[in-house]
Amino acid sequence: MENVFGVVLAAGQGTRMKSSLPKVLHKVCGKELLSHVIDCMNSSAKLKKLIVVVGNASELVIKYLEQYKNTEHVFQKERLGSAHALLQAEKKLKNFSGHLVVMCGDTPLVKARTIKDLLKWHIRNKNAATVLSGKVQNPLGYGRIVRNSEGRFLEIVEEKSATYEQKKINEINSGIYCFDLKVLWKALKKVDNKNSKKEYYLTDVISILNKYGSKTDAVDLAREEDILGINDRTQLAEADMIMRAEINIKHMENGVTIVDPVNTYIDKDVIVGQDTIIKPNTHIEGKTKIGKNCVIGPDTTITDCKIDDNVAIEYSCVEKSQIKKNVKIGPFSHIRPETVLKENVKVGNFSEVKKSVVGDGSKINHLSYIGDAHVGKKVNIGAGTITCNYDGINKFKTVINDEVFVGSNVNLVAPVTIGKKVLIAAGSTITDDVLPNKLTIARARQITKVRKNK
Ligand code: UD1
Ligand code: CA
Repeated sequence: MENVFGVVLAAGQGTRMKSSLPKVLHKVCGKELLSHVIDCMNSSAKLKKLIVVVGNASELVIKYLEQYKNTEHVFQKERLGSAHALLQAEKKLKNFSGHLVVMCGDTPLVKARTIKDLLKWHIRNKNAATVLSGKVQNPLGYGRIVRNSEGRFLEIVEEKSATYEQKKINEINSGIYCFDLKVLWKALKKVDNKNSKKEYYLTDVISILNKYGSKTDAVDLAREEDILGINDRTQLAEADMIMRAEINIKHMENGVTIVDPVNTYIDKDVIVGQDTIIKPNTHIEGKTKIGKNCVIGPDTTITDCKIDDNVAIEYSCVEKSQIKKNVKIGPFSHIRPETVLKENVKVGNFSEVKKSVVGDGSKINHLSYIGDAHVGKKVNIGAGTITCNYDGINKFKTVINDEVFVGSNVNLVAPVTIGKKVLIAAGSTITDDVLPNKLTIARARQITKVRKNK
């Protein structure tokens, strides 16, 4: 394979989004538009360089790009159009020969397979430019692919410049192109801005290359829903719906039961094991990994978690935590970041756990708050138990060793350590450490008196 390079055009204002966030950082299925495009580029070819053209709110986009080791960026100072944007990449590419794939940063649904096919076609036919086109129901807003009577590709006409007849053409420009680097820059410099938007249109490079006698082609390889460009919030929601359906189908094909796919929201990078059942109105977000035979939902949100096999979670929120085998969470629990629930743990009925490790077989089943704690194995945390971990300034640790039985409504004032097999009487407020195997009571003795005036 010859050298392949990539450029993502991501400098546009995104005016129609009406947002302070740059358009390419808006998310579809939990991932930024730009991220979808970069991932697509990287999986479609082994790129020698991947250059992102930034402009609008560039500091944010540049910062965002830091996570991608193989990308570089160039800055488009003024937004003069897509041709001008691509020209900014010349300084990084002018000493190279090979092929260039250009994508817009606002088309998150494109498949890597499609780009691979486009590139293959481009190289095999020795084209100077190959445009990925698609036949669509509604071409409104897209550039139209204009061909002569023999079907030869002549030019791309933008919506605003199209004649009445051209507007009827339903083969549109996806905004994805392959170029031969040898001829690109010269042609790009010939593009002018004599159009109603006074922009340098990248699409005009086609008629210029045709004039030079270079070979150009538009190939209708894309499905309408794959090339949807996101320009406003309605299209953002539409893209989300399309991608969500695709993600759900992929999981179902892999052996996951999704009871109600329309109301199940799984982010792009989530992994789910076979025979797991996902019930309605469940959101599984970020880099979550779920094992086999789990039952998740209904009404549950899981973000960036690692969940092992046979776990059941219902009506709960779980964030940035590790959940080991056979754990049961919910109904109505909140597991907050940096928590580890080890095998066979149960947390349920309005209990919250934060930044704590809970050992094998321990139970926190009713109305508790456990924060900054280390809970050993087979510990029973009684109903209403609270770790008092915060004095208003600092956070302190609570250690509850194996097989401790904490009675109901106990306050554990941290820092405090409870030895192995201790029994804490109900209603106690524990402020001092307790040695192993003791019974500890810290509450006022009950006094019963004669009731007056009765
Ligand atoms: C563009 C195409 C159109 C195609 C459609 C597909 C042009 C002139 N038109 O139209 O034929 O059907 O995409 O979705 O290219 N950009 C910059 N700098 C600029 C201007 C734009 O980086 O100065 C970037 C934008 O961030 C965006 C891309 O170029 O990623 C396309 O710009 P946009 O304004 O979205 O063009 P469309 O009107 O959608
Ligand atoms: Ca667009």
